[in-house]
Amino acid sequence: MSAFGELWAQLAPVGRDADSGGYLRYAFGPAEMTMRSWFVEQAKARDLLIEEDGNGNIFAWWGDPAAGDAVLTGSHLDSVPHGGAYDGPLGVVSALLAVDELRARGVTPARPIGIAVFAEEEGSRFGLACLGSRLLAGLVDPAAAAALTDRDGVTLGTAMREALGSGPAGARPDLLDRIGCYVELHVEQGRALVNLDRPVAVASAIWPHGRWRLDFTGEANHAGTTLMADRRDPMLTFASTVLAANDEARRLGAHATIGRVQVYPNATNAVPGKVSAWLDARADSPDTMEQVVAGVHLHAQHRALTDGTKVTLTAESVSPETEFHTGLRDRLAELLDDAPILPTGAGHDAGVLSAFVPTAMLFVRNPTGISHSPAEHAPDADCESGIQALAAVLQDLAC
Ligand code: GLV
Ligand code: MN
Ligand code: MN
Repeated sequence: MSAFGELWAQLAPVGRDADSGGYLRYAFGPAEMTMRSWFVEQAKARDLLIEEDGNGNIFAWWGDPAAGDAVLTGSHLDSVPHGGAYDGPLGVVSALLAVDELRARGVTPARPIGIAVFAEEEGSRFGLACLGSRLLAGLVDPAAAAALTDRDGVTLGTAMREALGSGPAGARPDLLDRIGCYVELHVEQGRALVNLDRPVAVASAIWPHGRWRLDFTGEANHAGTTLMADRRDPMLTFASTVLAANDEARRLGAHATIGRVQVYPNATNAVPGKVSAWLDARADSPDTMEQVVAGVHLHAQHRALTDGTKVTLTAESVSPETEFHTGLRDRLAELLDDAPILPTGAGHDAGVLSAFVPTAMLFVRNPTGISHSPAEHAPDADCESGIQALAAVLQDLAC
């Protein structure tokens, strides 16, 4: 078995749901903690120095991190509910193996090389995407973050105290200042590379994107005895809003998704009293994204008048447009045999870091383009190409 195959097989069972085949690796939950321990063991086995930043992020250093101007790589180990194996872990495993490759080549880095594992990248547990990197960068107030709750009402503060002993610490400018650049390798989340017949691409930009919670409230009542004319049913306002989101995104060339919904009391024989739904909106410009959200909200408000319901909209996680460092992007593309340069609609910690340090991303071909699903896949041979590409990039930047 290849070195990649061996490491990959070690992670395969961690947090895997036998029914869906997908992963349930939520930040600071048991499966993600197993992934983190595995990472720390792997890093220690390579004599890398472990540093934790108090925000749930882990850094493993080759060379003295105090020297500064480090070349950082890595990704995340958490997943969306029933997510795929590659989104996140591929970047971490590839980083470990790229270090092995550089050592096998006998190269000595002139700059420290770090591997980062960022916490709660997906925002699947506490709702705020890239929470670990945002905390590190000082973009989120640690007290506000500590009060975020998961679906069971557990706060981030409690979860971090139980899992790590403390946190979140908040901004770490001292650590951020030691990072000279960041390069994140990630599974492709689209089908561009299969069409281009190339295994690896370099990223150009991330679409602005965000999550908004829509709370529709009406009146809970008996399904059998409440006259149709007397109902104030928030499910109707919700259903109409789902269709409006789809129409609005298509009309504006954007993406809008409602993939999560909670119904109260969620009973077959009761008109619901409340429906909460989460709108994920993305577009190629912030204006278009805001237009989608405003259009959906306006539609929901109009429909609420018809249904005798109320609707409120709350922004939970909004990420600005990211244009990756053009010099770094072009340097990587040239180094990697004129690799294709692709934009993406997916969010990454690289997007957060790019506001502070020159940042780039590598994408590894995903033949179906499917992601955030158990069907997400990248062939082993392409993952090997990704590791070689990352090793070449680290050698070029750090050695
Ligand atoms: C994260 O993968 C996102 O794009 O939501
Ligand atoms: Mn993801
Ligand atoms: Mn990811």
